[in-house]
Amino acid sequence: MLRVYFDHSATTPVDRRVVEAMLPYLTEKFGNPSSVHFYGQESRAAVDRARREVASLVGARPNEIVFLSGGTEANNLAIRGVCEQHAEHGRHVITTSIEHSSVRGICDALGRRDWEVTRLPVYEEGVVRVEDVRAALRPDTVLVTVMLANNEVGTVQPVAEIGALIRERRAAGQKIWLHTDAVQAAGGLRVDVDELACDLLSLSAHKLYAPKGVGALYVRRGVRLAPQNVGGHQERERRGGTEAVPLVVAFGEAARLTRLELDARAEHVRRLRERFEAGVEARVSDFVYNGDRARRLPGVSNISFRYVEGEGLLINLDMQGVAVSTGSACSSGSLEPSPVIRALGRDDELARGSIRFSLGKDTTEGEVDYVLEVLPRAVETLRRLSPLYQKARTERACTPA
Ligand SMILES: Cc1ncc(COP(=O)(O)O)c(C=O)c1O
Repeated sequence: MLRVYFDHSATTPVDRRVVEAMLPYLTEKFGNPSSVHFYGQESRAAVDRARREVASLVGARPNEIVFLSGGTEANNLAIRGVCEQHAEHGRHVITTSIEHSSVRGICDALGRRDWEVTRLPVYEEGVVRVEDVRAALRPDTVLVTVMLANNEVGTVQPVAEIGALIRERRAAGQKIWLHTDAVQAAGGLRVDVDELACDLLSLSAHKLYAPKGVGALYVRRGVRLAPQNVGGHQERERRGGTEAVPLVVAFGEAARLTRLELDARAEHVRRLRERFEAGVEARVSDFVYNGDRARRLPGVSNISFRYVEGEGLLINLDMQGVAVSTGSACSSGSLEPSPVIRALGRDDELARGSIRFSLGKDTTEGEVDYVLEVLPRAVETLRRLSPLYQKARTERACTPA
């Protein structure tokens, strides 16, 4: 059976070139970067090279990059780190209603600890409005955390405009910082920390064709954070623990390749997504796209199919070799509709029927065509089982033209 992976937003396959780069650090180059001898210094040099590459991907200086275990930890260090360090200046945080569950979870935890959290709406487009951020800012706001691109619908948020707003506040004397989760954005868009005017930015290597378990937090020079891993002096006291050298090296190589190939990758997935969406439009009825189609990552297409449970469609597609995902989560034995799709104002039926198709740099036209062959049949099979669909069909057939 042909297998097609259309779930690159969940994770990406590791690039062979990245594997080659990391292999020596799993075998003969095994030193601890904190050791003074040759072995240690060899590893230290590799970590420093990787740091330069990751910094260069986002327009940062190497000493502004903190390596850690991934996007979730980067979000934790950024948000908890700022809030714990600067609570004396205020206890108010602004975020959006479509952040990744890690940011959502941290903000919920702050809310239970005497912090006030404002969660801004994103409207039908799935994009937060700068005027809403401006209106929500208070003298006691210490952190604004807005993702750069959403992980379910791919919508790109106006972080640079929000950054300009925060700079104005800071110029007026307020102690306030901006964090952006760029875990999804970094593989699809040019990211530059100065253009975004952000103070903290989260990255994860496994979205960039490197292994899971490594990521980075960009921390603008001068920003102070309460470390979340204490007891080690690594990463300039910002993240204790011996560096995961092979993973860090892999991340460095993946960052280098992403920087060099980003435009070609983006163009490739955009073209294939157009082919995919044109095919869906020609072959499937009763569906809606989720999120602003002009302002989204180039490889993501999120679609809600009416009269279909997303989870059922996912399983049906999986049986035919096609891997996609839904935003639904299993909670107490029942399927909760995706909070992100709900935040776009979709009803529960549409939120439950949403599927994320995410393409990657090695996706082929043949794979897109295979999905276009399988998907309409899968949707039709599931709809035949839906009483609502049967009713709608009968009603349509009985309505005079
Ligand atoms: C937007 C976003 N933030 C954070 C994360 C978490 O990253 P990690 O899997 O490296 O912990 C993800 C992963 O799906 C994500 O999509």
